[in-house]
Amino acid sequence: METDAVVSSTAGSRAADTPDRPAGELAEAAAAVLRSNDNGVTLVAAPELYPHQWSWDAAFISVGLAHLSVPRALAELSFLVRAQWRTGMIPHIVFGDSGDYFPGPRRWRTERSPNRPAGVATSGICQPPVHSIALAAIGDVARRHGATERRAFDEFLRATLDSWLAWHVWLATARDPGETGLFEIHHGWESGMDNSPRWDAPYSRVVPGPMEPFERRDILHVEDINERPTDADYRRYIWLVDQMAEARYDDDVIARTIDFRVGDVFSSALLAQASDVLAELAEDIGRRSAAEQLRTIAARFRRGVIEAVSPETGLARDRDRITGEWLSTATIGGFAPMLCGGDDGILAGQRAKLLGPDWCGHPALRYALVPSTSPNDDAFQPSRYWRGPQWPVINWLFAHAASARGDAELSETLREESLRQLSDASFAEYYHPFTGEPLGSRYQSWTAAVALDWSASGKAGTLFKR
Ligand code: SER
Repeated sequence: METDAVVSSTAGSRAADTPDRPAGELAEAAAAVLRSNDNGVTLVAAPELYPHQWSWDAAFISVGLAHLSVPRALAELSFLVRAQWRTGMIPHIVFGDSGDYFPGPRRWRTERSPNRPAGVATSGICQPPVHSIALAAIGDVARRHGATERRAFDEFLRATLDSWLAWHVWLATARDPGETGLFEIHHGWESGMDNSPRWDAPYSRVVPGPMEPFERRDILHVEDINERPTDADYRRYIWLVDQMAEARYDDDVIARTIDFRVGDVFSSALLAQASDVLAELAEDIGRRSAAEQLRTIAARFRRGVIEAVSPETGLARDRDRITGEWLSTATIGGFAPMLCGGDDGILAGQRAKLLGPDWCGHPALRYALVPSTSPNDDAFQPSRYWRGPQWPVINWLFAHAASARGDAELSETLREESLRQLSDASFAEYYHPFTGEPLGSRYQSWTAAVALDWSASGKAGTLFKR
């Protein structure tokens, strides 16, 4: 099964000796992708597979856009903020007028909720809260670009701080009412890691009943359907969407009735980190009580992430809130503490593990980058979406976190290896960890954005805190 897949994995379209491309050339190619994915209003996440705006994609995209134009980067985030729900939730998709994508607004039926935003069609769930990290990155670029861009950034920050704050507060309250320090997700899509083995156990308990038929569109836009989640996965995904629509997207009703409720350790680490980053931005503009509120959120989620670390494996675990079980799978989710810090002993153990043979040091890896699932785990599938491939944005996050901790060695390795991986200029959604073959969508905006940022910024800075 999975082992066969490893052995027989297609050699891929990548030549064995792909030459390293000069950073300037890669930056130009990445900028061209961003320009061509701009539909005049927003950037589509990818030209065919994802023809709308996605929440966490938009954050990474805005980091890349900042190198082209700070106002354009801020406009991308404005477009997203305009779609914020009255509850504070930033929705995971903001739909444009056209685009072949399923599920679209007709299946989401968010018009059933009194909390949906006016005048814009969105999905009814969220994605990881990386936006403040992006905002800080844009701020860094703005400072380097001079007074006009710096002013545009400050104005934007003043105008939107309350929106970002409301977003973090919503996650900390509606999604963690018991103050456990792990916020709850109600769909694998909310983690951004749709079909990761992290969710296998909770999804095994989601048993779809009779439902309106649907036709997948995603499989039309990849070379091999095995790079995408399975049909059985999709039935569960749509079942949960239907359950939420039935609940009229009422947070309390969903928390009581949905078939999937999991404390997400990776997103909670991002919330902790992003809250500290936003706190500093709030202080920059004199919003001290907002900063204090954000630091309290950061402390709670950092604690939750550290408490989720397994004493046996040293990896952090998600928690199934329906059964109460800890979910221990060898995925990147386990390294959540490396994104938010909080315990030096745990971090030292995680660093050694990350560089070891189960992860970046696995002898078969083409590039020493973090695979989404350990190649030594039974659930590993090297080509299938979040079950094995390497994702450039995730490696960008780990590099920035390492840099902020003063771990220049890890941060530089991740940057250099990422640049080598990206040098084929396909800007793929994800990459085969053994062959380096591009997988999923091509000309994916967030991949181009990260490539542009790596090429333009040089070393990872100290965007992250601690
Ligand atoms: N990632 C999902 C998809 O593949 C949606 O968020 O369509």
